[in-house]
Amino acid sequence: MSSLTIAIDGPGSSGKGTIAKLVARELGFQYIDTGAMYRSVALMAKRRGVAWDDAEALGALTRGLSFTFAFSGEQLTVHVDGEDVSGLIRTPEMGQGASDVSKHGPVRESLVAVQRGLGEMGGVVMDGRDIGTVVLPGAELKVFLDAALDERARRRHRELLDKGEDASYDAIRDALAARDHQDRTRAIAPLVPADDAVILDSTDLTIEGAAAVVLELARSRAPQAV
Ligand code: DC
Repeated sequence: MSSLTIAIDGPGSSGKGTIAKLVARELGFQYIDTGAMYRSVALMAKRRGVAWDDAEALGALTRGLSFTFAFSGEQLTVHVDGEDVSGLIRTPEMGQGASDVSKHGPVRESLVAVQRGLGEMGGVVMDGRDIGTVVLPGAELKVFLDAALDERARRRHRELLDKGEDASYDAIRDALAARDHQDRTRAIAPLVPADDAVILDSTDLTIEGAAAVVLELARSRAPQAV
C-alpha cells in the first residue's frame, strides 16, 4: 500500500526540495516539484512575449503546456512540451518570474488541476507554497518547513557559488526577502501553514536531519503505508 500523501510547503531556500527528494527516495514515492511548474510558465511566457502580469494570456499559455518529471540519477529533470528545461528554470530571474506569474488565478487554477491529478493516487511527496492548504488539503502529513532568512540566503548563495555563478550575498538575501513577502501577501493561495501542518524549523538542522524528522512523522502517521 502506498497511499500516503505528503505535502511540504515553505519559503524559498528552506530546503524543502532537497528534503522532499530525500523523503520520496527513502519511501519509494514520487516527488513532485510544483515550483518547477510556475518557473516553467515564467520561462515559456518570456520566450513567447507574454508579460508576467497578463493574467488571461498567462492562463491560456499555461493550459496549453504539458509537464513531465523524471529522475536522471539524483537530478530531477522537468520537461515542458517535451523539452528539458531543468537548467533554464533554475535561475534567480525565473524564481522571480515564477513568483510573479503565480499571483494570477488563471495560472494557479490550471496548475492546481494538474497537481491534484498527480497527487490523487498517493505515494507522493509534493512541495510548494499551497500544497497543504489548497492542492492536497486531505494530505495525511503536512509539513511547513521554515528557516531564518539569513540561513536561507546563505544556502542559496552557496548553491549559486557551487554552480560557478557570481553572486552577492546581500543581493540574494534582498531578493529572497522580497519574493517571500510577495508569496506571503498575495490575494490567492498565499504562503501560510495549513492549520494541521507540522511546523519544522530547519535553521539549525542539516538537510539529512530535517529529512529524518519528516520520515519519522510519516512513519508515525501511517506505519502500514511506509
Ligand atoms: O519553490 P520555488 O522557489 O521553485 O518556487 C518559485 C515560485 O513559484 C515561488 O516564489 C512562488 C511560486 N509557487 C507557488 O506560488 N505555488 C507553489 N505551489 C509553488 C511555487
